[in-house]
Amino acid sequence: MVDTKISLGSMNLTNPIIPASGTFGYGYEFAELYDINILGSFSFKGTTKDPRFGNPTPRIAECKNGMINSVGLQNPGIEKVIAEELPKIKDCFKKQVIANISGFSVDEYVYCCEKIDKEKQVGLIEVNISCPNVHNGGMSFGTDEKSAYEVTKAVKKVTKKPVFMKLSPNVTDITKIAKACEEGGADGISLINTLMGMRIDVKTRKCVVANKMGGFSGDAIFPVAVRMVYQVYDAVKIPIIGMGGVSSAKDVLEIMMAGASAVQVGAANLINPYACRDIINDLPKEMEKYGIEKLSDIIGIAHR
Ligand code: FUM
Repeated sequence: MVDTKISLGSMNLTNPIIPASGTFGYGYEFAELYDINILGSFSFKGTTKDPRFGNPTPRIAECKNGMINSVGLQNPGIEKVIAEELPKIKDCFKKQVIANISGFSVDEYVYCCEKIDKEKQVGLIEVNISCPNVHNGGMSFGTDEKSAYEVTKAVKKVTKKPVFMKLSPNVTDITKIAKACEEGGADGISLINTLMGMRIDVKTRKCVVANKMGGFSGDAIFPVAVRMVYQVYDAVKIPIIGMGGVSSAKDVLEIMMAGASAVQVGAANLINPYACRDIINDLPKEMEKYGIEKLSDIIGIAHR
């Protein structure tokens, strides 16, 4: 009998599988398909201070081995998430959840983190400084060391919950941003968010996505994610949630060997809504196949 338990900050998870923010709604949509209590946890849709309608449509472009999205942080705003979505989560998910928070200024990040800090079911805050689909927010904080440090430091002052900073791969040196977050007091790092991409319809000669560019995710970005998790593991002492193109139990083992303590599954949920359930079911078999008794033993093992 293999041991799939891992810990993340103060959260103890029965397994490392976490559906990524923006690919799993608020959980209850998927609870209609299977018992989501089998998950380690899940990260709910990126939440901002004010409600957001999101970007114009079309927001999605298909790609080989992946997809581009430009949703634009559509969400009902922090007040409604707390008043209406969290109670629905509580009804179907008995474990702690991850709150994914976005903002357009340091004050907005602080506002949302201070509010969510009071919510018992939230075990960890994932501060998204990497959304590529909004102007003057999201990724602009995650591509500059000073801004990444400032957001981290400011949110840490208003919450006692573990804070994981979600980083963008759209930078020259990811380790500098990760280190700035660690210096700001981050309890962990989540990476990677999507890579900036674009598609053009050769018939119409126009961009497929209304916002022109979007975030590229899916199987094709997995090697980039493994590389960045590996680099960040070497650069910081805080734990990492690895993500980016993870779609199988074998991918989970690989990204953990690079240095991830837990693993988020994103685009795979959009292809197969049972992706996380299937990965959790496959994980013990895959561990046995590679002679792994205790999953936490392989975190960062590729560095030794
Ligand atoms: O457009 C979006 O809502 C995507 C968010 C993200 O990638 O962080």
